[in-house]
Parts: sequence; C-alpha cells; structure tokens
Amino acid sequence: MSSLPLNPGIQYDAERRIWALVTEQSMYAFGVTEENFLLHLHWGGRLHAFSDLSAATLPPERSSLDPALTSSAEEYPPFGGLRYGELAAMVTFADGTRDLDLRFHTVEMGERNGLPTLTVLLQDAIYPLEVRLYYSLDVDNDLIIRSTSFSNTGLDLIALERAFSAMWHLPCQFAPRTLTTLAGQWLSEDQIQQRPLVAGTELIESRTGSTGAIHAPWFAISSSDHEYPGETYFGTLAWSGNWAIRIRTTIFSATAITGGIHDHDFRWELPANAVFETPEFVAGFVQKGMNAARHRLHRYAREHVLPQSHVHMPRPVLYNSWEATSFDVNEPGQRALAERAASLGVELFVVDDGWFQGRNDDHAGLGDWFHDTHKFPNGLTPLITSVHTLGMQFGIWIEPEMVNPDSELYRTHPDWIYHFPRRPRSESRNQLVLNIGREDVQHYLFETLNTLLAEHAIDFVKWDMNRPIAEPGWPEAQQKDHEARELWVRHTRGVYQLMDKLRAAHPHVSIEACSGGGSRADLGVLKRADQIWASDNTNPEARLFIQEGFSLFLPARTMGAWITDNRSRNTIPFSFSSHVAMLGALGIGGNLLHWTNEEMQEIAHWISVYKKIRHLVQDGQQSWLLSPHTHQGNLTAVQFTALDGKEAVVFAFRRQNVFQGHLPHLRLQQLDPTSRYSIRSYPYKDRETSTTLSGAALQQRGLEIALTHTPYDSTILHLHALQRDE
Ligand code: GLA
Repeated sequence: MSSLPLNPGIQYDAERRIWALVTEQSMYAFGVTEENFLLHLHWGGRLHAFSDLSAATLPPERSSLDPALTSSAEEYPPFGGLRYGELAAMVTFADGTRDLDLRFHTVEMGERNGLPTLTVLLQDAIYPLEVRLYYSLDVDNDLIIRSTSFSNTGLDLIALERAFSAMWHLPCQFAPRTLTTLAGQWLSEDQIQQRPLVAGTELIESRTGSTGAIHAPWFAISSSDHEYPGETYFGTLAWSGNWAIRIRTTIFSATAITGGIHDHDFRWELPANAVFETPEFVAGFVQKGMNAARHRLHRYAREHVLPQSHVHMPRPVLYNSWEATSFDVNEPGQRALAERAASLGVELFVVDDGWFQGRNDDHAGLGDWFHDTHKFPNGLTPLITSVHTLGMQFGIWIEPEMVNPDSELYRTHPDWIYHFPRRPRSESRNQLVLNIGREDVQHYLFETLNTLLAEHAIDFVKWDMNRPIAEPGWPEAQQKDHEARELWVRHTRGVYQLMDKLRAAHPHVSIEACSGGGSRADLGVLKRADQIWASDNTNPEARLFIQEGFSLFLPARTMGAWITDNRSRNTIPFSFSSHVAMLGALGIGGNLLHWTNEEMQEIAHWISVYKKIRHLVQDGQQSWLLSPHTHQGNLTAVQFTALDGKEAVVFAFRRQNVFQGHLPHLRLQQLDPTSRYSIRSYPYKDRETSTTLSGAALQQRGLEIALTHTPYDSTILHLHALQRDE
C-alpha cells in the first residue's frame, strides 16, 4: 500500500491513516496520530510514494516547557491543553469551559465548487461541537483551498471567539526565507513589502469592516537560499470584511500561517443545530518564483472565482466621468462626454458620483438612490438611450452601504446605522454606515437598487464604499437573538447577499468593486464582481507600483486602470500613461472636452491597439520581467503570454534614465524555443516596425528594446509564432 505512486488527486494510505493532496507540481499531506490528533506531514514538491512519508506521531517532549502539542504541526490547533503556539480556534461552551479538545473522527470525499474535496471531521472529546476541515484541490493550478465549519450538535449555545479558516505549516528547514506582503493606504495601495522571516509573529490585518488597504489579504514566503531559488509558498483569503493573517516562526525555523475572519471584536453565537462557515483560504506552492505563483492565482480566479457568465467576455474599454466632472453631473454635460468617448472607441460609459437626489457635493444624498430632478429633469433614460445609440453600454455609480445624515433615508430611519445609543455617531466624508445585517435594511436596499436596475437599461454598476465602520453597535441585536459583535461578519455577508441577489435578478449587469480605490480587493468580492477599481491614484508612475502589487494576487482582467489628466503636470506623455493603463481593464478618465484633436487621435490609437492585444492582457499569463523597483535605468517590463505560448505582448517602460545607461536585453518567458516569432511594435504616428527572432533567442539572449533617453518612454511589442513555412 505505502509503495503506491502518488498521482495527482486525493490519495490515502489506510494502513497509516495518511492523506496526500497531490497537484501537478506540489503535494500536501497530513495524518492521524495514535491519540487521534491531525498532524501536518508535508507541503512542497511532489514525493513519489507514501513510503516517502513517516506516519503521524507527536514529537518527543524536549522539556516540560516545550509540550508536544506546542511543537507539533497540527492541522487545526484549538485553544486547549498544552498548546502555546499559533491557534486556529477558540470557543466558550455554555458551562463556561474554554478548553477545546478536537480529535479526528472521520473523513469524506466529495466535491465543493466543482473541485475534489476531502472533508475531515474533528469532534470535541466531550462537548457537542463538530469541526469540519475542507480541503479542495485545484490540481492544474497547484492550489489547496481550505475552509472550516463549526456545527453545534447539542442543545446549549456555543460561542465562537476565533474561527480561522485554516492553518498552514512550512517545512521546518533552516533555509533563509523572505516574507512578502502588500501594504498601503488610500492612493498608495498594494505596495510590495519584503523582510526576512525571523522568530516572532507577523500580523497583517484589517479592522475597518472591509478588506482595507493597510494590508492586502495575501502573503508569499520565498526561499532566499541559493540552493532552493524560486521555492515560494503563497496564499490569499477570500473575504471582504475584517480579516487577519498571522505568520509565526519559532527559533527552530518552524513557520505556521493561520488566518481568516479577524478575531478582533469577534464573537459568534452558535445555537443548537446551527453551523458557522468560514471563508476560503487559498494557498499554493511553486518552484519557480513569484510569476509562477501569480499564474496559479490568476487562473484559479478565472476558472473558479469570477462570475462565470461574464468571464469569457472581454472586459469593455470604459469611460468614467469622476475625474472630469466630479459631482457636477448633468444630462447635457454627460451627453457631450459620451459623444467624445464613443468617438475614441470606448465601449462602456459610466456616470460616477453626483447623479442622485441632492448630490451636489459629498454632504448629501447617499441613501436616496433616485435621480436628481434638477440635474436630470427627464430622468436618466434619455442619457442612457443616447449612450446606447452611440454603441456603448451604460454604467452608474452607487454606494449602497452608506447614508448621509442629510438624506431622506436617514431622516426616515436614523436607527438603521451602526451606533451605540449614548455615543456620538462619527462621520467620515459626512457619511454613516448602514447596518446591512438588519433584514429591513437589506430589504430596502434590494428593493431600491432592484427598481433602479429594472427601470433603467443599466449594464454596469460601480459599487463603492468610502469609509470604515465605527461605533459598531447594534442596539436591537439582542431582541433579534443576535450577538451585536456578529455585525462585522453580517455586514460582509449582507453585501455579498445583496450583490448576489441583484446579479441573479439582472444577470447581464456587471459589477465593479471599489472602496475609495482598491480597499475592497480580494477573491471574496470577485465571486460577485467582475472588476475592481485598483486605486484612486491614476498617476501612471504611481500606478506601475500599485499595479505590480495588485497583480501578485488578482488578474489583469479585474484591474480597472484609466488614462487620465493626472500626468505630473503633463511631464508624462499620453503614450506612457496609456501603456500603463493597458496593463489592466483599460478605462479613460480624463476630461475629454478639454482634449485637443491631436490628443483624441492618439488615445483612439491606443484604444485600438488595446483591442488587438486585450485577449492576451485579460486572459493570458502575466509575468513581471522587471519590477519598477529595479534600479537598472528605472526599467519596468511586463509580458502577457497566450496559454499555448504562440502569442505574447511585452510592455516596457523607462521612467528616467539619469545615467544615460544602455538598456539590458529583456529575457522573455513561456515561448516555444523552436518557433520563430514576428515582433511588431505599434508606435503612434511613426511607422510600425517588424522583425523576427526565435523563441530560443528571445528567452536566452533576450529582446533588445528601443527606448530613448527621453523621460517616460515606453513601448509595446506584439509577438506571433510564425507558421513553419512563413
Ligand atoms: C471614491 C472612488 C472614486 C469616485 C468617488 C466618488 O473615492 O474611489 O473613484 O467614485 O468615490 O465619490
């Protein structure tokens, strides 16, 4: 039995009670000890046979101060017994007991979200609590998708105080490792942070009620050892509410990563027969570095996360009015912009903030989702009809979770927001947050937004969230049998539910998730949103950094990126800002009424080039060849390659060349070495150039890129494999 080969799929060694989850290039294994503890055995490259693994046994106790359960790599260690390492769960039983003793009970094979899944049932030794660990396997993308559920099988209430999605263990080796995370703020999301992994605990988190920008819910840990270059473990949480990822390393190089819904101000009451499900924590192992990790997560998002009804269609080139008109939105002004946008080749025209009742600035209107009668005396339909007649789809901005005190909604329902009765209600951007966990609020929002979508031919919704939750009180919760602290989870679930219901009622509508830019960017929202507004910062230089970070976990088809007038007082040419925006789902955000004919012609050119290469950008494999952090002439280069390697597009950017240095050759990736490729450029105005080179030459010698010494020069090169006789 134990000499059986470990082929991709879920494998089982019954004799020694070991399970192996084998993907194309990785393997994850755990087993059950004599005492019925579930211990981690391996995560990394593939092994050949079960005999390569030793059975699960508790480690010998080093001393009375290092108990066995603390030094062992448990798959899901609860707070209980002699455990002082990182913990996955904490509960309080009705009699006040806070010690949880989870032991292996049974396993079951099945399917979740179309993926083969192993469910491990753990039970408390005495109390009626069942904990199910789900392990789904994405064989092609080398990913394990984990989540956990808690079921109360008794009569008394059980309170969950920490209920993380999973615990991951790295192999305990003395190899140096580098931790990469993404940190940011408004206007500076997804900045790459790297540091050596040393003994201690790293915490990345959000406590704002949303995904937040302070950290993105993603990590990568790569080997910094020349013996194992490129070995990378990475993971991301599919959750858009409060979350935490804790990465704990001991002095003996044991690293455990755990995370899920944040346990900060968290408490979930589980009555008899109730079940609590955690969000998914997706993780993988690759041997070829960050680009390989990127490819896995991007493919997974396309194949298993994004709304499948829209994922096979190209994301349209959009125009958004925000930077042009701000709140000064009205029918003639938007019509004039729409005409100019259509002439550029724009496919979706989006009216941003400012269209609804009383919305002349950010002091009023949120909550009243009907058109402002002064700005649109004939309603929205005439504008929508003219946008459609111009051949574009129509989109609109909303911020459903919010209310301004100066609104009909708030005047009628001042109790619908999170608050503590004897505390002030802290406003931010003059707005308060609606308690979406309340059924009446859910109902109101669904009815209002459903009517908006039913009465207007709207094709796209930009769903914003511009402030965090504060004073998290829910005074009526106790009467409704809810624990007030559940609101953090209920808020996110409420947003998901609202999006899901609106999508079901209006299946053609697509959604852009936004939170003052990229503060709601994660795989949870992407189950119901087709794209994300990555940042309010549209300066192309800043965008290169933000977009590199975003691309580490989310695919280009989901990354909203605009060409705007934010170009460092026009020192950055339109070509550079267009090329930067073409790395994602292209949009235009400038004031088209101020653009010269020459500028209009140039942007029309870049939009037409984008349409020639967008299948590669939106559905190809994205590799960052040179990071903007590189010092070599400030060069950045990104390659998108068709899955069969026959076609690719390469973007190269040079911000400054203060040393007047030569450019290094760009070594491309993922091409067929034996094919010859035609390489075509798309300069604006100058003649297109075209050369040919073999895949081997492009990957081994590299590609020479013609960039001038002028600041902010950039280029796009489109590669096609030639037929053998061409
Ligand atoms: C947020 C968004 C912007 C814009 C404004 C409108 O800041 O990120 O893109 O929609 O709100 O108020």
